[in-house]
Amino acid sequence: MRTKNKIAALVLALLPVAALGAGGGPALAKASTDIHNTASLQRGARNFVNYCMGCHSAKYVRWNRLAADLQIPMEEVAKSFMPPGASEHSTMMSAMSATDGKVWFGNAPPDLSMIARSRGLDYLYTFMTSFYEDPSRPTGTNNLALPGAAMPHVLAGLQGVQKAKFETVTGPDGKPTQHMVGLEPGTPGTMDAKQYAEFVNDTVNFLDYIGEPVKAKRENLGVWVIMFLLLLWVFTYLLKKEYWKDVK
Ligand code: HEC
Repeated sequence: MRTKNKIAALVLALLPVAALGAGGGPALAKASTDIHNTASLQRGARNFVNYCMGCHSAKYVRWNRLAADLQIPMEEVAKSFMPPGASEHSTMMSAMSATDGKVWFGNAPPDLSMIARSRGLDYLYTFMTSFYEDPSRPTGTNNLALPGAAMPHVLAGLQGVQKAKFETVTGPDGKPTQHMVGLEPGTPGTMDAKQYAEFVNDTVNFLDYIGEPVKAKRENLGVWVIMFLLLLWVFTYLLKKEYWKDVK
């Protein structure tokens, strides 16, 4: 009986998780990133500083750590990335305070240090590629991944502004209704679809890096650990044979 109760409790505890997994939301487009690609991370850092840091911070990332990990000379980081007056030991803080952000946008722009870990890379890619025109919103745009997003389409100059595509469906009562079926190109931006996808992938790659700055090193180390274990297995096996050879 007690075991049964435990199982029931476990099932109940896991239900919300299952519901989340199965939960609605748009189908996510796949991000294509590589944490070992330093050139991509460098471009992502530049994108982040130029297009995101006006509103978002990455409060766990120090400038000198960024310079070392991404192999950018510290002088270059100081000149092109850091806000005036910042020290190389300070972190990537936006000039905008959370309170101002809340007043200006209705929702405070979150710190993005951990966003890749809390949302996932595919979500971030989809979020940054699925802004579309929606005159009913105060920002003039809406977002498929985050309906009602308070964030304006800050990359509109690059991507352009997509339009929602509707399809008329006749309901069981014979009345036609409009259903949104996807997005289509609207006002063009300065980048074509491929260039924009690359821009977003680099930015997502950078968000992945700041979520866990040791990830690339950890993965490299992992390979060595596996090789060491394999080698150890060979020797252990030989040792076992040696021990057992006289035992009949
Ligand atoms: C003009 C200010 C502004 C800029 C610039 C900006 N954002 Fe935002 N961002 C916001 C606001 C405001 C929110 C909160 C949205 C909400 O909760 O509705 C937000 C939310 C987000 C979120 C969280 C979405 C979620 O699911 O909760 C992500 C991710 C994000 N921004 C990424 C970026 C990236 C990447 C850039 C740079 C390319 C960027 N933002 C530039 C204002 C900005």
